[in-house]
Amino acid sequence: MAAHIRLAAASSSSSSITLLSSSSSSTIFTKIKSIPHLGFSFSVTNSTFFHPFSVTNSTKTWKRMNHTLIAKASLGLTYPAVIEPHKFSFAAKDIDLAEWKGDILAVGVTEKDMIKDENLKFQNSVLKKLDLHLNGLLSEVSAEEDFTGKAGQSTILRLSGLGTKRVSLVGLGKGLTGSSTSAYRSLGESVASAAKASQANNVAVTLASTQELTPELKLATASSIATGALLGTYEDNRFKSESKKLALKSIDFLGLGTGPELEKKLKYTEDVCAGVILGKELVNAPPNVLTPEVLAEEAEKIASTHSDVFTTTILDTEQCKELKMGSYLGVAAASTNPPKFIHLCYKPPTGAVKTKLALVGKGLTFDSGGYNIKTGPGCLIELMKFDMGGSAAVLGAAKALGQIKPAGVEVHFIVAACENMISGTAMRPGDILTASNGKTIEVNNTDAEGRLTLADALVYACNQGVDKIVDLATLTGACIVALGPSIAGIFTPSDSLAKEVVAASEVAGEKLWRLPMEESYWESMKSGVADMVNTGGRQGGSITAALFLKQFVDEKVEWLHIDMAGPVWNDKKKAATGFAVPTLVEWVVANSSS
Ligand code: BES
Ligand code: MN
Ligand code: ZN
Repeated sequence: MAAHIRLAAASSSSSSITLLSSSSSSTIFTKIKSIPHLGFSFSVTNSTFFHPFSVTNSTKTWKRMNHTLIAKASLGLTYPAVIEPHKFSFAAKDIDLAEWKGDILAVGVTEKDMIKDENLKFQNSVLKKLDLHLNGLLSEVSAEEDFTGKAGQSTILRLSGLGTKRVSLVGLGKGLTGSSTSAYRSLGESVASAAKASQANNVAVTLASTQELTPELKLATASSIATGALLGTYEDNRFKSESKKLALKSIDFLGLGTGPELEKKLKYTEDVCAGVILGKELVNAPPNVLTPEVLAEEAEKIASTHSDVFTTTILDTEQCKELKMGSYLGVAAASTNPPKFIHLCYKPPTGAVKTKLALVGKGLTFDSGGYNIKTGPGCLIELMKFDMGGSAAVLGAAKALGQIKPAGVEVHFIVAACENMISGTAMRPGDILTASNGKTIEVNNTDAEGRLTLADALVYACNQGVDKIVDLATLTGACIVALGPSIAGIFTPSDSLAKEVVAASEVAGEKLWRLPMEESYWESMKSGVADMVNTGGRQGGSITAALFLKQFVDEKVEWLHIDMAGPVWNDKKKAATGFAVPTLVEWVVANSSS
C-alpha cells in the first residue's frame, strides 16, 4: 500500500495519471521502470533542424537501468540498455550542387533523368552540369554499371579534389508525377546506408528534377526522404552488449525549398518517426522484459511527458472484473504476469472537441496459443512477442500526437494487455466466457485469444462515447496467407471510414487492402451452448475474426478493423516495422480541425 501511494504521488506530480487501484502490491514500485526509448527533441536554428537521434554508445559501461528504482530482476536478468540519443540535423539550403562541401552528395534520379543523347551525354540539366564538373565520370560510370535510374538501383563514386568526397546516384524508377512516397523514402534509406557504410559526417540530398515539383510536392518529398533517413539510420541496440557508432551529423536538402512551412513539415515528420521508433522498440522488446505491466508503464510515460493533453487510466484484474470483462480476463487467467487494461485519453490543449475517436490495439505481450499451444514449424511461437503490435501502433501514435497536439479531436488509446499462457488457472478449450456486453463465447480454440481481448476493449471504447473506432491487431495467420507480409487487411461496414483510413495510409505510404465482411460466414461461428464460438474453421479465417469483433461494437459507432499480422514484422531485417503509426497519426490529424 505504501509503495502504491509513493508511485501515485510521483506520477501525479508530473502528469494527470489516475491510478484507480491500490490493489497492487509493492512490486509496482520495485519493478523495473520501463523500456527506455529514443526521444527526439527538435529545434530550429536558421533553418537547421536538430534532433538527438541514433546511437553512440561505444563503451561497455552502459547505464542499464534507472538506478533510482530498486530493480526487480527480470527473467533471464535482461534489461534494455539506456542508449544516449545521438544528434544529427536537417538543413534546407538553397545552394548550387557544385558548391556543396561534405562527404556524400546523393542525387535521386528517375529513369527519364538518365536518358542520354547520341553522344552518351545527359540531357537532364542537373546531371549534365554535375557530369561536366566530374569530367564525364558520371556518365561513364552509369553506363559501365548499367545504372538506368530504376527503383532500388544506386551507384557511388569516390572522388578527390572536389567539394564532395562521394557522389551517389539513387534510382527513383519511373516519372514522379503523383506522390511517390515509397521511392523518396527509399532515397532517404539509401542515403542512410551510404552514410553508415562510409562513416560520413555530412550528406546532401537532392533530385535531378526538383524544378518539376510543385511546392506541395517538395514538402512531401522532403518529408519522405527525411523519414527514410531517420528510420534508416535507426538501429535497435538495446539488447546487444555492444553497438556501432554513427558519425552522421547533418543532412542538407538542396533544391527542395526553405522556410517555415518546410520546417513545420519536417518537425511533423520527426514526431511521426519518433512514434514509429517507439512502436518498433515495444515490439522488438522480448516478452520476458515487455510484460503487460511494463507496457502500461510505457503508456504512463507517454502521458506524463505530455501531461497537458493526456489523462491515464490503468485498470487491474479486480477493476476489469468489476467491468465484467470476462472475455479478456479469460485469456489473462493463466499468467503470473497480471493483465493491465490501458486507457490514455488525449484532449486538445485549447478549443472545443468536435470529433471523438478511439484507437484500440491488441496487446498480447506473448501468445503461446494457450492449451491449443502453437506447435510445429512455421507456427512462429518464437516471434509471438510481436502479438502486441497493434498496441505498439496505438502507443506510437499517442506519442506522436502528444507532440503534434491536433485541435478539435479527442482520442482514446485503449489496450487490453495480457499474456496467453498455459497453467492450472488457464482457460480451457470448451470454456464459456462472458464478455462485458453480456454476450457469451464458447472458446473452441484458446489460440484465437486476440479477438477475446479485443471484445472487451471494443465494448469499453464504445462506452467512451466515441464517433469512430479503429482497432489494430496481429489477429490471424490467415491474413498473411491472403495478403502476404507487407499488406494489412482492413474490414469495416462503413464505406466512408474505409475511404478515410485508406486515404491516410496513402499519405503515410503504408499498404492496406479492404476485405469483405461476408455475413453468411457467421454461420460457422454459431455455438450449440453459447452465443458464439471464437473460431470458425480454416476458411476465410480473417473474415470470421472480423465478424466476431463486430459483435462487440455498437451499431451507432463507425468501426474499422486492421489485421496487421503480416506487416508488424520484417522477416529479412528480423525486426519490427512500427507499422500503422504513420497511418493512425494521419487519420487523427485528418479528423482534427488544425
Ligand atoms: N497472434 C495470432 C495470429 C498470428 C499468427 C499472427 C501468425 C502472426 C503470425 C493469433 O492469436 C492466432 O493465433 N490466430 C489463429 C486463429 C485460429 C486459431 C483461428 C491463427 O491465425 O492461426
Ligand atoms: Mn493466438
Ligand atoms: Zn495472438
